[in-house]
Amino acid sequence: MDNRPIGFFDSGIGGLTSIPYVMKKLPEERIIFFGDTARAPYGPKSADTIQHFSLQIAHFLKNHNVKMIVIACNTVSATCLEYLRRVYPDIPIIGVISPTARVVSKRCAPGASVGVIATSVTVKSGAYEKKIKALRPDLQVHSAACPAFVPLIEEGIIDNEIMRLTIKYYLDEFLRRYDITDLVLGCTHYPLISDEILRIYPHLRIISSSMEAANAVELELKKRDMLSSARSENHIFVASDLSAPFLQMIHRISEGKKEIADIHFYNLDL
Ligand code: DGL
Repeated sequence: MDNRPIGFFDSGIGGLTSIPYVMKKLPEERIIFFGDTARAPYGPKSADTIQHFSLQIAHFLKNHNVKMIVIACNTVSATCLEYLRRVYPDIPIIGVISPTARVVSKRCAPGASVGVIATSVTVKSGAYEKKIKALRPDLQVHSAACPAFVPLIEEGIIDNEIMRLTIKYYLDEFLRRYDITDLVLGCTHYPLISDEILRIYPHLRIISSSMEAANAVELELKKRDMLSSARSENHIFVASDLSAPFLQMIHRISEGKKEIADIHFYNLDL
């Protein structure tokens, strides 16, 4: 048993899409979330820059005495998971790509054509293809980078014509060419537009890396006998810029109840 908080982080608001699943599944766990909203998106940046940012955030979380770090970001999971594990060997660190690939391997029909949409860095890393193919060599895996999604989502441009056109721009040809039946949202920002995607392509079966992060946390805590017995303090949500979409998401997650969440600004460069 371990009553210390779990640390989560993402480049921005995307990782917050995992939090309601974690709260529901593990109500006794206390969460400290860091969203690097001032420097999002990470997707178009170099691996060195992403490593530098991730190290700062992991350090911040470690200083808050977290018992585990969850990289609620595919881009960081694809580029920095092993690096962060080497820097912090004494703390469990989990990413979102392996848990999501495991679900793909369990859910997809034999020979299915699986699409993975993600940031440019995640697609370039080939991490999803490698992990999925290692588990299910029969699946066809095709990836598409959708770099405009994250900046639009961080701006709160979600349920409108600009987003619908952007979805069609990236997905029309991709889904048609490969006859995709199962679509992996390989970026934790994308569940925020999954309703829009399904409205345009209702036949798709969607697998979300955000939901799988919550399952992976539960599994790992159980395996290590580190589940919390009670939560006595509020969850903490920290951002490098308290943007309106970040605050709106926290409000939604905590259902407007102030006693559930404390919100802070923190500048990692100071
Ligand atoms: N949520 C991050 C991910 O899962 C978004 C990356 C970005 O900031 O571009 O990849």
